[in-house]
Parts: sequence; structure tokens; C-alpha cells
Amino acid sequence: MAKVAIMGFGVVGSGVWEVLTKNASSIAKRAGEEISVKYILDIRDFPDHPAKDLIIKDFDIILNDPEVSIVVETIGGLEPAYTYTKKLLLNGKHVVTSNKELVARHGPELLKIAKENNINYFFEASVGGGIPIIRPLQNCLAGNQITEIAGILNGTTNYILTQMKKYSLSFEDALKEAQEKGYAERNPSNDIEGHDACRKIAILSSIAYSHYVNYESIYTEGISKITKEDMEYAEELGCTIKLIAMSKKIDDKKVVARVSPLMISYKSPFANVDDVFNAILVKGDAIGDVMFYGQGAGKLPTASAVVGDIIDIVKHIDKSYVYTWAISGDIEVVDIGNTS
Ligand code: HSE
Repeated sequence: MAKVAIMGFGVVGSGVWEVLTKNASSIAKRAGEEISVKYILDIRDFPDHPAKDLIIKDFDIILNDPEVSIVVETIGGLEPAYTYTKKLLLNGKHVVTSNKELVARHGPELLKIAKENNINYFFEASVGGGIPIIRPLQNCLAGNQITEIAGILNGTTNYILTQMKKYSLSFEDALKEAQEKGYAERNPSNDIEGHDACRKIAILSSIAYSHYVNYESIYTEGISKITKEDMEYAEELGCTIKLIAMSKKIDDKKVVARVSPLMISYKSPFANVDDVFNAILVKGDAIGDVMFYGQGAGKLPTASAVVGDIIDIVKHIDKSYVYTWAISGDIEVVDIGNTS
């Protein structure tokens, strides 16, 4: 039986417990053995939760328990997630995360540590919520030269823009709804100012172009300045407004990347991607265009991706992945109009 610990029992962490519990028998069949949660690390108590007896406050219990082979990091943010993850990997424990901030910032270092210890640091849930996109880019599309990625990568802002469009809501009212539904980051400015989408396009681009793409070099503009009037004006022109993250490979040394709100014609497949849904278009020299679509945020969709990673680790527990982008250095990132 594989024993798992969950660090951070918020929206995603509790979703992981729920999926692992609800689908325990089908998961056991697919993984080849049972997977059970031994500990849940959180500073809060959950006296009414069925998993209340698993709650612990001391990280060292997880770190030093040889029975725990896989740890889920759904704490979010850089600290203490970074310190905990590093210690766990150095101690030979696989780590699965939804934490895009940590992967975008420290991914190369953490992946190198994982490789050196013959274990895995998996992060399917860090981009696109429940949409399989990391694994397809890393594996299924590995035979392609990827030339371009474009997408709606933030559920919260897409939900806000959809509510503004459909119900003529103000930006503030729509944001409040998104927060109530549990889509928004702890700090909502990460969503609305585009930083979350920026980290996600940086992660996807790093995998696609086999070099670390530093999110700090990506021009990023959010949706906080979009008004009801802007939306109405776009509609009059047969368009809608979407927050689009994109990157394009210029050559082996340069990519162009950007996150910004754009007027999107209703003829574009992105125009009808509404609510919390994300869509990602990937262009490859062999496959042509391929699109990925699904729920990009929320408890169970994101948990679905985390649990998929856990099962993959249990199935291949003795194999560690190679991430080229973690060992090949940075690639220069420039903004649109600066590609020569
Ligand atoms: N706040 C993120 C979003 C959560 O809205 O897309 C999923 O990464």
C-alpha cells in the first residue's frame, strides 16, 4: 500500500483527499496497489471533517516517516512550500504539486534534486487545473518542434470576464463571486494582474522549448482596468475580451512571450471558452494545431490532476523523469515587436 501525505488542506488539498477516498477502489486497480492518506498537514483544525484524525501540525513527522513515499504539496506560495519540498526531495520522497508559483520560480533546482535522488517532482495540476497539458507536452508531443503556445490559462479572470459579458456585472462583483467559488488565489491580484497566467505560460514554454523560460521576463498585463463599457464596445465589434497568455519560439536562443487582455473575434475558438474553463492551443511541426480544453481551476478538477500524478508515481515508483528544461539553462524572452 502506498502512503501519501497532503500538505495544505485548502480547496485543492481537500479535493485530493476526496478523490482518493471516493475513487479508492478504481484507483487501486489502476495503480496496482491501494493508495491511502496517512497525514494531512495544516495549521488549522477541521473538527467536523471525516479526515480530522489525520491532521498534524508538525512537518517533521512526514519528513521522517519512512512509510510515506509520496507527498502532495497544496500549500501554495513560495514559503514554506519551497523549504518543505526541497527537504522532502532530498529525503527521497516523491512530491506532487499544484503550486505554479514554486514550479515557475524553483522548478529547475527542484527537478534536478529529484533526478539526483531518482524520484519525481510532478506538477500536472500547476497549469490548466484538470486539463492534461504538462504530460502531453512532455511526452505525447515530444516528437514535435513546438513553435507556439497560446491560451486562456486563468480560470478566475475568465470567470470574471464571462460574468461581466453575460450579466453586465462590474469587475468587483464578478471577482467576489469567483472568490466565493474558490477559484481565486489567496492573493487575488495574482489572478487579476495576470501573474498566475504568466507563471503558467512560463512553465509550459519551458517544457515546450526545452529551456527555462523565466516568468519575470514576460510582459504581463491583467484585467483590472477592463470596464463594462470596454466589454460592450468589444461586443459591438463582434468580439469579446479574454486574457491571453502566449509564447512563440523565434529561434534556438529567443522566445517571444506575453500575457495581456485581447479583443477576440467570435470566430476564434477562444471566444466561447467561458467561466472557469481554460483552453490551450499548441502548434507543433508534426501535429499541427492541437487544443486542450477543460476546467482550469476548482477543487475537484485540480485534484484530478494531482491524483493522476500520484497514480503515475505509484505505477513507476522506480523511474525518475528527465526534464530537459531543468538542465539546459535559460532562453531569452522578449516582448512582441522586439523579435529581431
Ligand atoms: N487561481 C487559479 C485560476 C487557480 O483561477 O486559474 C488554478 O490555477
